[in-house]
Amino acid sequence: MRKPIAAANWKMNGRQAEVSAFADSLNAVNSRGEVIFAPPAVYLTAAEKAQKGFALAAQNACEQADGAFTGEISMPMLADVGCQYVILGHSERRAIYAESDAMIFAKVKAAFACGLTPILCIGETDEENQAGQTEAVLTRQLSLAVDNLSAAEKQQIVIAYEPVWAIGSGRTPSIDDIQAIHAKIRYVFCQNDDTIASAVRILYGGSVKPDNATAIFALADVDGGLVGGASLTIESFEKIIKAL
Ligand code: PGA
Repeated sequence: MRKPIAAANWKMNGRQAEVSAFADSLNAVNSRGEVIFAPPAVYLTAAEKAQKGFALAAQNACEQADGAFTGEISMPMLADVGCQYVILGHSERRAIYAESDAMIFAKVKAAFACGLTPILCIGETDEENQAGQTEAVLTRQLSLAVDNLSAAEKQQIVIAYEPVWAIGSGRTPSIDDIQAIHAKIRYVFCQNDDTIASAVRILYGGSVKPDNATAIFALADVDGGLVGGASLTIESFEKIIKAL
């Protein structure tokens, strides 16, 4: 059985007092799944101090471990301050900071090398969706991981399917489309390996809200959600956690 995940991606939002208060409230929420909080990196330590009932994630990190990379934060540093997960390849990183599939895969390897679990984000743009290219785009974004990760790494990694056009827009694919795409991702990623297929968790992200979370999380190949806007208040994120 795959343990479902509710992950809060705060992006570049919040201040220290809000991060600490949210972390305190999160401790009090009971969940049948795993709860993950990804505050801005500068507040990871504040969240870690309050952390009891949830896991801590970073939103990005460098593929290098140490050295002359001004402004970057490394995976060993994240592990050192108590992170267990790191979100990689978010569409905002791909689009705004020009992160390539190769760079993102280097980050995935660097995360595994120091014991962090990568949450690898994939997803097509509106244009790619309209052009019927969704499957080709997702297959391309997954291919380095499919070809190069070990079986153990494939069982451990978390994949987040986030259609770019659904992020922050209030739009989502239909329930049937979400299930069909997740099933396809599982099939493409696992290459007929049943052990991997039954272990790898595939989250849906993109306008997950308290009023659609139950239907989305009930889908056979959806193992929880990566939540942006609706994770910024504990009232709304708690309802999403309860939908797991
Ligand atoms: P959203 O963001 O829930 O605000 O659509 C999701 C994400 O970008 O991870």
